[in-house]
Parts: sequence; C-alpha cells; structure tokens
Amino acid sequence: MVELADVMVESAVGYVALPLGLATGFIVDGESYDVPMATEEPSVIAAAAYAASLVRRDGGFETRAGEPVTTGQLFVENASAEAAARLESEASRLEREAAPLLTRMTERGGGWRGMDIARLDSTGVLRVQIHVDVRDAMGANVVNSVVEALRPSIERLTGGRVLMAILTNTADRRVSLARFRIRTRSLARAGMDGTEVAARIVTANEIAREDRSRAVTHNKGIMNGITALALATGNDTRALEAAVHEYASRDGAYRALTRYELARDDGNRTAILRGEIALPVPLGTVGGAAGIHPTSRVALELLGRPDAMTLAGIAAAVGLAQNFAALFALVSEGIQRGHMGLHAERIAWSAGARGAERAEVVRQMRERRVYGLEDARAILASIREPGSP
Ligand code: MEV
Repeated sequence: MVELADVMVESAVGYVALPLGLATGFIVDGESYDVPMATEEPSVIAAAAYAASLVRRDGGFETRAGEPVTTGQLFVENASAEAAARLESEASRLEREAAPLLTRMTERGGGWRGMDIARLDSTGVLRVQIHVDVRDAMGANVVNSVVEALRPSIERLTGGRVLMAILTNTADRRVSLARFRIRTRSLARAGMDGTEVAARIVTANEIAREDRSRAVTHNKGIMNGITALALATGNDTRALEAAVHEYASRDGAYRALTRYELARDDGNRTAILRGEIALPVPLGTVGGAAGIHPTSRVALELLGRPDAMTLAGIAAAVGLAQNFAALFALVSEGIQRGHMGLHAERIAWSAGARGAERAEVVRQMRERRVYGLEDARAILASIREPGSP
C-alpha cells in the first residue's frame, strides 16, 4: 500500500486515514443512494442522513447538473493589436491542433467547446480561454496539456509571448442545482409548530445571504457534506472548494449558496418548505486518484459507478441536505445537543474506554449530561470497580 502512496505523491511514507461513513437513504432524481463520506468531523454524516430521511418522505431531491466543461487559460504579453481577430479567424485550426489530445474525450461525447479572448484592463495582457468538455474526468491534466500544446501557435498568431498556460479552477459552466420540497408538519420541534420552524429556516438563510460572516459558516456547513463526498471519491477537494467560494462571491459580495421559501400546496391546504442550492461541482469519476485509489473505487461502486454529471447532482443534494440539517438544528434545538452526544464517544475513548465499556460510559455520560474527561474517567472507574464513586 505504501507503494501506491509513492505512485500518487512524492516521498510517501504512509497514509492519513480518515473515517469513511455512509449517509444512508438519499433519494436523488428517483434513485436511492447511500452516500460515502470521508470526514474527521462528528455529526456530519448523521445530519446528512437525517435530512435525507425527512426529504425522502416527500419525494427526495431533484437535481440538474451543469455540463462538465473545464477551461484552460493562456496569458499573452505584448500581443499585437490585431491578435484577437487573428485568433478568432484561426479558431478551427487551433481546434484541429488540439484534437489528438482530446481523442478520448471526443469519443465519449466531450471535447473542444470553443475559445474566448479578452484584453485585461490594467496589464494589457491578452487572455485566451479554451473550453473543453472533459466528460467524466476532472480534466485538469488534459486541459493543461491542451493549453501548453497550443502555446507556440498562439505566440505565432498573436506576435506576443505566453507568460503562463494553466486551467482556471473557476467552474461556472459546471453549476449544478438541487432542490426539495417538504411538508412543514415534519419540522415541528422544541415547542414550535413546523411552519414556524420553516419560517425560521427561511430567515436564517436570508441572514446568510446578507451577512458575509454568517455566509462563510453557512457555506462551510454545505461543504462539510460535499467535500466529504469528494474526498471519499478521490477528487481534488481544493479545486472544488476554490470553485465554490469563487461562485459564492460572483456578484462581489460573499453569499449563501442556498435559498428557501415557504409556500402552500394542495389548493392552499398544505404548508411546504422549498429548499434549493446552486453551486459549481467540478468532480470526476475517472482518472486521477478516483481511478487508482482502492477506497475511492469502492466509494464509486457504492454509488453505482455514476458519471460525472450524476455525481455532481448527488453532491449538490448532499450539500443542500447538510445545510438544511444545520439550519433546522440551529433554529430549533441548537446544534450542541446532537454534537455533545457524539462528543461523548471521543471523550470516552480518550478516557481509555473500549468496546462494551465505551458504550456504557457513553450511555451514562448522555444520561447524566456530563461530558468532561474527568466525568468519563470516573464513570469508567465505577464500571470497572462497582462501588467506586
Ligand atoms: C459545523 O461544521 C457547520 C455549521 O456551523 C454550519 C452552519 O452553521 O450552518 C453547523
């Protein structure tokens, strides 16, 4: 196994193993999924599964994934005044030149999707963007190869010099949507009726659209789910997060990626809460770590070997579920109640409890609502030596 680590990165000495769990019971576009999630954070998987179970009662999530287009950029210094026009007129020649690198993509229905050219205001540098439908790959390697291969032709056509050629992690063509609707009666909690809780969820979301410091935490919660799925399936989590946070700030302010609204259904008889998320999801299902890491392969198997667009839809649904669970808890009972229950597991472990002892220490901690390390040690001692304090 260390040999595989050495194949994946340089100077490998081992692995950092993270827990891998299943958020069970998702219905996405009529299909059921148990979603693999790799995370170090307690409550994330339970919260996603809980939201999935509520949404399932009212039909599950509907999604629509964006086309899997990745964009490469070349930045050209000292390009001539007529450079843009020359590039436009030679676009199909550039496409033909890139074709050998895109044979497999094209066979799978992807490939070249066009070029756009812009002059950057303050540097005067010419930016040439090449768009490639990468189908089920994340696409970084192939797009970087394309822009590097086109470098000499682009220099010749523009009369300038390419400063750098690299993909952009902006993924606004890969924006995916997920939504659900749920009868508010399922949301009654903490002495409030379901419609009141739903209205509080709507307001909590509006706050995260207005207040950037709340939006950061709100979106972090969304990424708790999506990044965990990306990690489980061997995807580049930094590329994903860079794209998502860029998208969250696309109008200049950093905003929540979700929307909620209260509505009525069945001829006005039933109050419902609608939830929706839109965000870029640049995830691949072939190549990269997804192709060789055994756990990633198992994770993709568990999902029924989805293509990239199906995985993007599942990811959007998971992000929305995660956010819905967080807001539901925050505006009703608060999140600490659920968290402390799970926190007890860690404390019991730190106190030295294992196996059946651990289960008993956790049970007693929850019952007495005490969560300190000393509490756990005392309970453990009392189990081992009945009669001790
Ligand atoms: C914790 O990891 C995530 C939350 O803070 C998200 C949120 O506040 O919306 C619970």
